Amino acid sequence: MEISKVGVVGCGLMGHGITQICSQAGWELVVREVDQDKLDKGLAKIDKQLGRAVEKGKLEQSDADAIRARITGTLDYADLADCDLVIEAMTEDLAGKLEMWAAVDGIVKDDAYFATNTSSLSVADQAAATKRADRFLGLHFFNPAQVMPLLEVVRSGETSDDASKLGFDLGETLGKTTVAAGDNRGFIVNRLLVPYMLDAIRANEQGVGSIKDIDTGMMAGASHPMGPLTLADFVGLDTLASIADVMAESYGEERFAQPETLRKMVSAGNYGRKSGKGFYDYSGEKPVPVDAGG
Ligand code: CAA
Repeated sequence: MEISKVGVVGCGLMGHGITQICSQAGWELVVREVDQDKLDKGLAKIDKQLGRAVEKGKLEQSDADAIRARITGTLDYADLADCDLVIEAMTEDLAGKLEMWAAVDGIVKDDAYFATNTSSLSVADQAAATKRADRFLGLHFFNPAQVMPLLEVVRSGETSDDASKLGFDLGETLGKTTVAAGDNRGFIVNRLLVPYMLDAIRANEQGVGSIKDIDTGMMAGASHPMGPLTLADFVGLDTLASIADVMAESYGEERFAQPETLRKMVSAGNYGRKSGKGFYDYSGEKPVPVDAGG
């Protein structure tokens, strides 16, 4: 199937990036949010990233204008009706996703494909909320979607060869490196990355090193672009916590369980970079580790 119009549900951390790169590929985009404030914030992030690309000379102003003009924001699922592909990028809440898919399934044209950008929830469970499980797949992008090269293409037991091919073709059009991943919790990357971040939190709890030293250690000692605690803040501590819960329940292994520190930080509303505070305080010019008085 030829794709010409893509719907994205959610314009947050992942949704705005997915919307931007799909528009850059030349498709018409409709992005849906739950309220005007969230929609405005998401679209403003796209404007900012396009503006930065123009400033750096990576994009002509006319191209940035065209990319932005192909994106329409909406609060109404009805505007997704003629999309060829709908990508879900909501928060990691299965009940919310199931409710959305059931509503959207009755609105969007029958031959359209549906994809979830879930980090950890079951693709099959979400597909079952629709009457098109054969045209339902996982497309797992990484943050920031504009930069990270990987796209995990996930098949449930019901995903057709056509739908899977659509995922790999889409990845190629977007210039992504694609990998095939099974419909297991965390797919490939989070299965390995999430316990690593959780273990870094435990290492800090146990006095193995300060926040800064743990991060510096992994950057300078293993050539990671960010240390694990900076990365946890970057992913979002609320997101990390909910992925940990899903994986702990699915695998029944202690290494996936939320450390106490993470649980307390999320309860206090400290979600990392997006809330202004996590393992670092982001209120100043430079992030300050919270165990250093930030
Ligand atoms: N949106 C768009 N572009 C961005 C961006 C953003 N949020 N952040 C950075 N960039 C771009 C910059 O504009 C810059 O582009 P140019 O090279 O074209 O100038 C480029 O990325 C590099 O940025 P910076 O020079 O500002 O900073 P950096 O070199 O430190 O790179 C980074 C920033 C790309 C985020 C890098 O630190 C990195 O790769 N970090 C690791 C990120 C990571 O592991 N992501 C996966 C998280 S896990 C996940 O997403 C899965 C899940 O389900 C939880």
